[in-house]
Amino acid sequence: MVKILITGGAGFIGSAVVRLAVSRGHEVVNCDALTYAACLANVAPVAESDLYAFEQVDIRDREALDAVFQKHSPDAVMHLAAESHVDRSIDGPADFIETNITGTFNMLEASRSYWQQKGKPADFRFHHISTDEVFGSLGKEGMFTEDTPYDPRSPYSASKASSDHLVRAWHETYGLPVVLTNCSNNYGPYHFPEKLVPVVIINALAGKPIPIYGKGDNVRDWLFVEDHADALLLALTQGEVGRSYNIGGENERTNLELVETILSILDDVRPKAEGSYKDQITFVEDRPGHDQRYAIDPTRIRDELGWRPSVTVEEGLERTVRWYLDNEDWWQALLDRKGVGVRLGTKA
Ligand SMILES: NC(=O)c1ccc[n+]([C@@H]2O[C@H](COP(=O)([O-])OP(=O)(O)OC[C@H]3O[C@@H](n4cnc5c(N)ncnc54)[C@H](O)[C@@H]3O)[C@@H](O)[C@H]2O)c1
Repeated sequence: MVKILITGGAGFIGSAVVRLAVSRGHEVVNCDALTYAACLANVAPVAESDLYAFEQVDIRDREALDAVFQKHSPDAVMHLAAESHVDRSIDGPADFIETNITGTFNMLEASRSYWQQKGKPADFRFHHISTDEVFGSLGKEGMFTEDTPYDPRSPYSASKASSDHLVRAWHETYGLPVVLTNCSNNYGPYHFPEKLVPVVIINALAGKPIPIYGKGDNVRDWLFVEDHADALLLALTQGEVGRSYNIGGENERTNLELVETILSILDDVRPKAEGSYKDQITFVEDRPGHDQRYAIDPTRIRDELGWRPSVTVEEGLERTVRWYLDNEDWWQALLDRKGVGVRLGTKA
């Protein structure tokens, strides 16, 4: 068992990692600034555990990070805290530079200082969680491998690419024992209601238009968040130092296919009085610079660490839809947060 300092543990993916890590007997220190995207209810299932601690800390504040390392003496870091919404990065890139780049720099320096003070233990890990968006956009063919050249195209993906480069540099230059992962689009329970999957479910139930950017033909490789959390703990504990692993769901779908699948599930489990939820689909102006296709080649993590996703996108979406139906209090409480329910990212 390891003691893991997890940044961004009150967000969507971070909270899934926190819940899974505690359930497996790891100690967790959840460090989160509690931005608009955070929700402590996401970690309520483990909040009373002796294995769990929370620190409200901003990764832009180096001194605060040093204090957390001294107080908790972690064996490993999983760094997920980030500004994560591409549309918000188009309207206001500054926060993305400060949190995703400077914040990662602070995390690396705080980790390096702590690791050196401890005598550079070889089993310390700095696990950086990144995105497939750093690789740019694919045409109809091909897949991203770990060797695909970086080609980020949005302020968000450029900031994540920068952070990946910093993490590799801290390994090469200072010997910090790092592991990197780049994953595809996640979906699942506790997904903040500004992202596609929850927007579709919530707008459908409210009888509102369901917005699809452009023609809905952008392709993503959909990864169930609980599968991702499992892969992350595996990469942390079994991954080779200095190596990166791509994590995908082996579930490529166009946005339109994904939305239609969600709405078919809703038509089955919560039918409308009349007609189909698909009647609410509305095509809207595309996102500027919208990447056409992402696809992950998962060969490395499958062959070297023995990991594969446990669900198809249809199974994962059914679990997700049922979770949203059963947890309306959770998402209703988030609908009045700034920027939720309005179209962002058209200012370019
Ligand atoms: N969601 C996806 O599909 C996806 C895909 C690939 C990679 N990722 C990466 O995974 C990580 C987690 O993504 P997510 O979807 O859970 O994000 P999220 O937006 O749901 O959560 C981010 C969390 O980080 C915290 N945070 C933000 N700025 C902070 C700061 N300055 N200091 C401390 N905490 C701060 C927020 O309060 C929030 O709890 C991110 O690094 C993201 O780039 C996400």
